[in-house]
Amino acid sequence: RYRDPNAAEKMNPFAEQEAWEEHQIGKATLKFGSKNRKQKSDEYQFVFEDQIEFIKDTIMDGENVDQESSIEELNKSIAKSAFDKLQDDRKTLPVYPYRDELLQAINDHQVLVIVGETGSGKTTQIPQYLHEAGYTKRGKIGCTQPRRVAAMSVAARVSQEMGVKLGHEVGYSIRFEDCTSETTVLKYMTDGMLLREFLGEPDLASYSVVMVDEAHERTLSTDILFGLVKDIARFRPDLKLLISSATLDAEKFSDYFDSAPIFKIPGRRFPVEIHYTKAPEADYLDAAIVTALQIHVTQPPGDGDILVFLTGQEEIETAEEILKQRTRGLGTKIAELIICPIYANLPTELQAKIFEPTPEGARKVVLATNIAETSLTIDGIKYVIDPGFCKMKSYNPRTGMESLLVTPVSKASANQRAGRSGRTGPGKCFRLYTAHNYQHDLEDNTVPEIQRTNLANVVLTLKSLGIHDLLNFDFMDPPPAEALLKALELLYALGALNKLGELTKVGRRMAEFPLDPMLSKMIVASDKYKCSDEIISIAAMLSIGNSIFYRPKDKQVHADNARLNFHMGNVGDHIALLKVYSSWKETNFSTQWCYENYIQVRSMKRARDIRDQLEGLLERVEIEVTSNVNDLETIKKAITSGFFPHSARLQKNGSYRTVKHPQTVHIHPSSGLAQVLPRWVVYHELVLTTKEYMRQATELKPEWLVEIAPHYYQLKDVEDPTSKKMPRGEGRTS
Ligand code: CDP
Ligand code: MG
Repeated sequence: RYRDPNAAEKMNPFAEQEAWEEHQIGKATLKFGSKNRKQKSDEYQFVFEDQIEFIKDTIMDGENVDQESSIEELNKSIAKSAFDKLQDDRKTLPVYPYRDELLQAINDHQVLVIVGETGSGKTTQIPQYLHEAGYTKRGKIGCTQPRRVAAMSVAARVSQEMGVKLGHEVGYSIRFEDCTSETTVLKYMTDGMLLREFLGEPDLASYSVVMVDEAHERTLSTDILFGLVKDIARFRPDLKLLISSATLDAEKFSDYFDSAPIFKIPGRRFPVEIHYTKAPEADYLDAAIVTALQIHVTQPPGDGDILVFLTGQEEIETAEEILKQRTRGLGTKIAELIICPIYANLPTELQAKIFEPTPEGARKVVLATNIAETSLTIDGIKYVIDPGFCKMKSYNPRTGMESLLVTPVSKASANQRAGRSGRTGPGKCFRLYTAHNYQHDLEDNTVPEIQRTNLANVVLTLKSLGIHDLLNFDFMDPPPAEALLKALELLYALGALNKLGELTKVGRRMAEFPLDPMLSKMIVASDKYKCSDEIISIAAMLSIGNSIFYRPKDKQVHADNARLNFHMGNVGDHIALLKVYSSWKETNFSTQWCYENYIQVRSMKRARDIRDQLEGLLERVEIEVTSNVNDLETIKKAITSGFFPHSARLQKNGSYRTVKHPQTVHIHPSSGLAQVLPRWVVYHELVLTTKEYMRQATELKPEWLVEIAPHYYQLKDVEDPTSKKMPRGEGRTS
């Protein structure tokens, strides 16, 4: 099997670390994550500016050049500069012929649904048209994206097209990273960030236009935004609302927005031939690789590139490795195959590679997640290979467990994927499943995220916005009532809501943090335990995910030893993360120290940025920064104050049983406690790979549960189990 539960720890190779210090987005270089970003923005360099300077220099350097003809030539050269090339490119996009008609429609209607194929220019062009037409004189234009990568790369592209520096007139805002300034008028942002902006500006007064883009993705935040923007549009007649989507079932959006008109941008779409397998594939990854190689060796190289849809980073890395091995064996007669991976966590400068034109005589194979389905357009794709799977979040409202599972895609998804091959000419799509599977086994549409996710975060946000009657919120598709109740229950347990479901002082403080409620609660609770300094370091490190340590293949033993150093005394994973952070801080944030300890310096810098922001937020909620580093027990109690619903007890066979909603779980092999197996643990999250694993676990004393959460745990929950295995009830006391 190619799925390796520990693959997450096999992070990127040592050699790439340097390259990660600076990130390239498109052609604009910017320094990431610095608090001083705004001061530093003058350092941003644009390629076309360089080119113009270069052209000037070259011409002026010429000896005996007659002044007048040189200026003429200079002007000609500048006319051909990269900037003008971009302007020409803009005019070739499918949306361009409809520019005036579109502006007229926006002028005539407050709400407009815009539909157009991926790559027609909706995201990059429409905000610029509105800016050119004067809308930014009245306020900003905000454009939401479901994915961070898309928000960043689109903003970089648009700033180039407008010839301005990224972060000035055109900027982006994603969680923990604000690349905008006072001068920003076109703001690209994740849908989650716009949702948070409602907290500070409930009527979005600083915006003249809001474009909810990629609406067809139906992410949780987009769905909530629908309800909120629909509401404010009623009392802000000056606000323009655009809902844009890549799929044709726009009627649903139109119906929801009180029969808003639909503006269709006719696409250029070439025919796509669809091929199915005769029998289901047992190993779709292998089948995808074989198909890609077959296309590569049998079709002329200049003919077009290949796009393969895979489910995630591990799978993409595995495919990349196998493809490299197998192409090496092909000999020199076969054209070069350039392998381009793309997934959300790929360092940005490597992402740029997929947009680079394929050199003559070679072929590109792009190994992508769902991100290439509609969010990103890659030119030159002729062949699409679709194994028919994606990773999808699912949520069990009964147990409150969330997991990421490999799931068959929907018909709508499969058709989007196929469509990627017919953008610039006739294409071919190879579906690695049978026509019967397609017809009978695939759902028509992907279930919107709101119906398969934990809602605690969103419920807290809505409550802070003063929206109390959640059951009657204007959802496009309502979430299961059970999931709403579960979220209310959790927020009540955390002390964010009172018995009447009203926001408490604790809840108001929690809502200030752009984090999951349990993390926010842990931070708010650190006030009581006088260890906010340590707790925000831990929260920042937890927010990075699992990309802190890395394990180069040839140095695994060294890497493991370095990691175990931080776990000395079996302190648990949270405290180990704290030790990593504070040791790095003691070395004055040394890069060398990271190398020596097999720690990703890029992740650490991100943690430092997040920590800085959390420190700023502490001040906002009037929590003093206090340190209590020598009392690990109090730090663990603060952690337990946020994560008490995630407690588990050791079983005789070495597995664990969660205390509420009993379920068998295991300590993740990468945990410092994997060999220790304490009797009681509190964990950060569950991940399902080969088993249900607890990631980031810390030992706890069972009496803390009753002390910290008496409304949630009763003595009987934490007493030593006698012989009988009683299924513990819900245990709610109040
Ligand atoms: O939003 P939509 O899918 O309709 O199109 P878009 O994202 O505005 O992209 C229009 C064109 O801009 C694409 O076909 C790409 O050629 C180009 N583009 C790019 O080169 N780099 C980006 N980061 C985004 C778009
Ligand atoms: Mg778009």
